[in-house]
Amino acid sequence: LSEGPLQGRRILVTSGPTHEPIDPVRYIANRSSGAQGSAIAEALVKLGADVVFVTGPADAARPEGVTLVEVETAQEMLRAVQGSLPVEAAVFCAAVADWRVSSASDSKIKKTKGGLPVMAFAENPDILATVSQMPEGRPALVVGFAAETDDVIENATAKRIRKGCDWIVANDVSPATGIMGGTENAVTLISDAGSEAWERMDKVAVAEKLAERVAEALEA
Ligand code: C5P
Repeated sequence: LSEGPLQGRRILVTSGPTHEPIDPVRYIANRSSGAQGSAIAEALVKLGADVVFVTGPADAARPEGVTLVEVETAQEMLRAVQGSLPVEAAVFCAAVADWRVSSASDSKIKKTKGGLPVMAFAENPDILATVSQMPEGRPALVVGFAAETDDVIENATAKRIRKGCDWIVANDVSPATGIMGGTENAVTLISDAGSEAWERMDKVAVAEKLAERVAEALEA
């Protein structure tokens, strides 16, 4: 049995995109592969943590050695997260859809001559903010991600405050970086102590470095 610094610690990780149905055969999605989330879950398991892995329909292989909870929509993800609490730390990697179609059709929407479907949207719950701002039973450490294309550090720093999480892992997902869907990541870790840019490295290496930081923070 592996003894690690996170032995006996229960940690939640969310990962992947969410799918928001339009009708039974169509949905709105995003380009998150789930690679970084799977890597983080695996790195935490390696350090001995009991990981609850809540994932949307991601392409990435599911991490081994976790308690796996598969969901489809943002609302399902929130319920799964709430059902997994309490945890000592929570890492929110999922690319949760900001909006859902407010009245998804129960039957396939037909193509009708000259007519175009009109969709109304509703705002999805912000899972990270909800957990960060829990009046009772909040995890000791809450980590969010901020995928930005502009003013990355400035936006991510504001996001940390707005959501109420402890750390934000910020990254630039502009298409030119090749990060979204790629194997590498270049992140900046933002906490109340300031920001720390990590060199560009494999997503697995980012995951291992982050898992070590989580272990240090929970020990402190
Ligand atoms: O606001 P934005 O989507 O950029 O925030 C990203 C962070 O918030 C990520 O950690 C993501 O997992 C989390 N998030 C969430 N629920 C949402 C939207 C984002 O948990 N509805």
